[in-house]
Amino acid sequence: MSIKKHTTTLSLKNLKTDGKKFSCITSYDATFAKLASDAGIDLLLVGDSLGMVLQGKSSTLPVLMEDMVYHTQCVSQGAESVLVMADMPFNSLNTVESALMNASLLMQAGAHIVKVEGGEWLDEYIQAFSDRGIPVCAHLGLTPQSVNKLGGYRVQGKETEKANLMISTAKNLVDAGADMILLECVPTSLAQKITDKVSVPVIGIGAGNVTDGQVLVMHDLLGISGGHKPKFVKNFMADANSIFDAFVQYNDDVKSGDFPSSDFSFS
Ligand code: KIV
Repeated sequence: MSIKKHTTTLSLKNLKTDGKKFSCITSYDATFAKLASDAGIDLLLVGDSLGMVLQGKSSTLPVLMEDMVYHTQCVSQGAESVLVMADMPFNSLNTVESALMNASLLMQAGAHIVKVEGGEWLDEYIQAFSDRGIPVCAHLGLTPQSVNKLGGYRVQGKETEKANLMISTAKNLVDAGADMILLECVPTSLAQKITDKVSVPVIGIGAGNVTDGQVLVMHDLLGISGGHKPKFVKNFMADANSIFDAFVQYNDDVKSGDFPSSDFSFS
């Protein structure tokens, strides 16, 4: 019997170097975390999307640090061979000092890496996390915590100037110490440029099949999210006999590059 090795930030970086893809889904509890781990998913994101899919809120803004700590603890109980990434919620990055305290709480709850949404201004936070040994992923593109500033959940980086800014921001944040970049809702051509230009793994959602990894919100993947269905969402339960089979199919399709096809991507 082969024993699956534990995913680490380094093993994901090695996959990028080897030109291999990795899979990620959101997770909020121990049962689904174990199922995803057994299905071969490499990375679990305790996303602040829990505000919408678990708490029924209309955005991620009301999610509290205590919610993130609780669900990170739950996921880390079930995650056996996967890396656990936890979101820093809205209002948790007000000063470098408070951000370090909040990131530490997530690491103590069982996260192996934290994720921060924003742009160039994240530089000093990422530098501080990196100096303290806290791995960090920078979430760029459509950043749902800024939905009120962005004027809705829209594709980002379509204009040349904004695309160039996103490329330089990604490079600067990697220079500051970011261990991963997550791109949400950007044109595939822009995702390709950023993936090629940075040395760390790039995870995409609505960013085409050109990134090193893919993430989907678990409820979207299972076809049980209500409301508007974004273009990049595929229901893997439609042809599956069980939730486990849906996870396996998603994992296979991400690793083969079959998902997301252009039907689920933005040009
Ligand atoms: O909170 C979340 O689930 C996320 C994904 C949409 C990437 O940030």
